[in-house]
Amino acid sequence: MFLFGSNFKMHGTPADTERFIRDLRALDPPDAQLFLIPPFTSLERAAGALSGSTIWLGAQTVHWAKEGAFTGAISAPMVRAAGAELVMLGHAEQRQHFGETDALISRKVPVALDAGLRVLLCVGETREQRDFGVEREAIAVQLKTALHEAMPTQAERLLVAYEPVWAIGEGGAPAPPQTVATMMTWIHALLAERFGEREPRVPVLYGGSVNRDNCAGYARLDEVDGLFVGRAAWRPEGFVEVLSRALESIGGA
Ligand code: PGA
Repeated sequence: MFLFGSNFKMHGTPADTERFIRDLRALDPPDAQLFLIPPFTSLERAAGALSGSTIWLGAQTVHWAKEGAFTGAISAPMVRAAGAELVMLGHAEQRQHFGETDALISRKVPVALDAGLRVLLCVGETREQRDFGVEREAIAVQLKTALHEAMPTQAERLLVAYEPVWAIGEGGAPAPPQTVATMMTWIHALLAERFGEREPRVPVLYGGSVNRDNCAGYARLDEVDGLFVGRAAWRPEGFVEVLSRALESIGGA
């Protein structure tokens, strides 16, 4: 099953998200599992709009506590109750702007899993780490620390996105497919070491400036189990086009 989804970041009102979903709702490609990650404020309305659909709804992060005196924060049980099936943790922008560290993520992972959510863990090295040749070490630290508390029995609800920081967002440069293949092999090896060889394996997605022109080059790689797309999928036409091209390239619908 090829995974394909989009993080809307801080874009869109609940009405915008609902319109987006209305345009996509009929999509149910047999070979792909789709997911959407809108802002918190859109979750409940999105869940209503997605009712009966196979598309997973996700939240952009959660707090590490179930509840408490943490003004401004949102917990895993709260997003679950609002209709989320999944939570993304460790996105590069959460790390950069809000101080989400690997140690914090390691506290969030078990709480999210206990709440019944799937966890999409984002990892990726910075340009500086790559320049120093420590990209593998950087990924190993992120993955091992963040997943320290996860139980092997929970691995089936884990997904990982490899998103090199230098490839993400405006000004990001899409990673060469060969680089992605190398890093994905490394991530699969780390996951196998942590959770044992599994069938199916913990899926690893690529994200970072994926678009209609480069998606096939990533989707075709054996190491890539899905794509995680930002800007290029923020309009329904873009979402559908990138998805279709990716699926075509692997011989799917
Ligand atoms: P982008 O975003 O596709 O716009 O580079 C990817 C991401 O931040 O997950």
